[in-house]
Amino acid sequence: MSIATIPAAPIKFDKFQAADDADCQRRIIAAKEKLGKRLVILGHHYQHESVYRHADYTGDSLKLSRYTENLDAEYIVFLGVHFMAEVADILSRPEQIAILPDLAAGCSMADMANLAKVERSYRELNKVLNFDEQITPITYINSAADLKAFCGEHGGIVCTSTNATKILEWGFAQREKVLFFPDQNLGRWSGYKMGIPLEQMPVWDPDQPLGGLTVEQIKNAKILLWKGHCAVHQMFRLQNIERFRAEHPDGFVISHPEAPFEVCQHSDYVGSTEYILKTISDAPANTKWLVGTELNLVNRLAEQMKPEGKLVQFMSHVVCECSTMARIDPQHLAWVLENLVEGKVVNQIKVPAHEAKLAKLTLDRMLAAS
Ligand code: 13P
Ligand code: SF4
Repeated sequence: MSIATIPAAPIKFDKFQAADDADCQRRIIAAKEKLGKRLVILGHHYQHESVYRHADYTGDSLKLSRYTENLDAEYIVFLGVHFMAEVADILSRPEQIAILPDLAAGCSMADMANLAKVERSYRELNKVLNFDEQITPITYINSAADLKAFCGEHGGIVCTSTNATKILEWGFAQREKVLFFPDQNLGRWSGYKMGIPLEQMPVWDPDQPLGGLTVEQIKNAKILLWKGHCAVHQMFRLQNIERFRAEHPDGFVISHPEAPFEVCQHSDYVGSTEYILKTISDAPANTKWLVGTELNLVNRLAEQMKPEGKLVQFMSHVVCECSTMARIDPQHLAWVLENLVEGKVVNQIKVPAHEAKLAKLTLDRMLAAS
């Protein structure tokens, strides 16, 4: 009689919870060595240094999306948030496995839109217009896969902070209006740069009948801006900029487009995390910078720029760390990697096939258009 071998269960996270950072660092390095080319680690710029240092590739959302398209590794471990790991799953080959070390690493802005609300908005807008003939839905990449799929089904597209203006142009080439979700700040700033008047970019409140707008406002709108924002970037204030300019009249201000409109308007430069890094890295020595984006990126940049005498200052007095990005810590990374060494996959992100197909359509449209 043969005795069937019962496959061993994955190693539980409990064993890692109490492990100290130094121990986890050693274990991550050892596991990476064992996995070799079977593993690739992608890291977003907002990740804490303790895990960011293990990334094989780093970038903003657009750059990381492009990497995921061209990787050979069996396992793609994403140091970032949930929607990023979903994009990695959608754009990678079916046999590749995308992993998010902590499944609770979401994006609070992405959560401000969901399929039920977007579909309700579709029905509401159809009371005034013909949605599919007159409106291009555009979702920021910071959104769940089913919203990307909605855009795929309704002739829409995805954008990132790098390409939002270009993608809006694409949207207007298809139809006369855009429904932009979930970040009103990115939509407003990008529309403003295209010369669209603010009164033609009203805020669409998905919880109100007709988005809280009049029929006239909807008919007059060019971009309907979803009532959503990033809680981290919402903390930056015009007063922070005024104080910096008073102290450093020769300094520069650079912000992420998720920051409030008046902050972007009073910044010298506005762009994605990758753009912020590149602009400050390429700037002359001894320049001074006020930066309106997440704290981990600003802290890292401030350290890196010290030898060149550049001053890199965070825009707020309040700690604006993205608490969900911060969930990816050395303990979770060591845990998923040691499981992979044992042949166990934990925390796989798998988008259902029907959603993935439509979402891929919109991501491919975006990559082609940008
Ligand atoms: P980037 O694509 O500019 O990195 O932005 C992602 C993000 O979540 C910013 O809050
Ligand atoms: Fe989401 Fe804001 Fe965090 Fe970016 S910083 S991942 S938009 S909550």
